[in-house]
Amino acid sequence: MKISLSTLRKMKRDGEKIAVLTAYDASFARRVEEAGTEVILVGDSLGMVVQGGETTLAVTVDEIVYHTRAVVRGAPNAFVIADMPFLGDATPESALANAARLMKEGGAQMVKLEGGAAQVEIVRLLSGRSVPVCAHLGLQPQAVHKLGGYKVQGRDEAAAEAIIRDAAALEAAGAEMLVLECVPSLLAAEVTRAVSIPVIGIGAGADTDGQVLVLYDMLGITPGNVPKFARNFLADVDSIEAALATYVAAVKSGAFPAPEHGFE
Ligand code: KIV
Repeated sequence: MKISLSTLRKMKRDGEKIAVLTAYDASFARRVEEAGTEVILVGDSLGMVVQGGETTLAVTVDEIVYHTRAVVRGAPNAFVIADMPFLGDATPESALANAARLMKEGGAQMVKLEGGAAQVEIVRLLSGRSVPVCAHLGLQPQAVHKLGGYKVQGRDEAAAEAIIRDAAALEAAGAEMLVLECVPSLLAAEVTRAVSIPVIGIGAGADTDGQVLVLYDMLGITPGNVPKFARNFLADVDSIEAALATYVAAVKSGAFPAPEHGFE
C-alpha cells in the first residue's frame, strides 16, 4: 500500500514508530521499501556518501532530481522526500522553482528544507502552493561552516528554547514533518510532544516519532568517521536484507536508538 502523509500522521497519533532511511538509487530503494521502511529520504548526504565530498554543499538540484527519480522507480510505495540543496531556497522564486522540479521531475512527495525561523516564510509559501514540507532543525549540515563543525545543537537553555520556538513556528507555517538532528534526547522528546506533526530523529534519542539514518552508515560502508548516533546493522547479520529488516524492527520496538546513540 502506498504510504501517504495521512498514514504517517496516523502513525504519530497511534504511537507507532516511523522507520526512515536515506537511499539514492533504485536497487537500494527497492530493498529499503521491502524491509518495511515507510519513508525514504533522498538526502543531500549523497554529496558525501555517494560523491565523496567533504560536505553536502556542492550538491545540485539536478543531482537530487536524478537520484529522486531513481528512488521513486525502485520504491513505488514508500513516501519519498527530496532534500532542497544548499541555498536552493534562498529566494521565494528559487524555492518554488526548485521544489517544483523535485516534485514534478523527481517524483518526490515532500521537500525537506534545513533551517529555523529564517525559513518560516518560505515554508508558508511552499505549503500554500501544495508543496508538503519537512523542516529540519538542530544540526543543519548545510550550515557546517557557520557552526564550525558537526556539533550537537540545543545544549544550552537559550538554544533549546529557540529550537522549540522554531518547531512551533514551522508547524504553524505549514510544515508537515520535522527532522531533528543531533540534539539532546530530552529536548527532542519535548519538541515531539509540543508539535502535532511527525518528528523524525537522528541523534535525537528514542522519544521522537520515528528515526532516520544514512543508509551507508547503517550498513557500515561509509568511509572515515561514523557518527556516534549511527549503528552498523550489517555487523551481526549476513545480508543487506537482514540488516535492513533488523533496523526496521529495532526502530519499531524502540530498541534503536539505545541511550549510547543519543546526547545529553
Ligand atoms: O541529507 C541527509 O541524508 C539528511 C539526513 C541525515 C537527515 O538530511
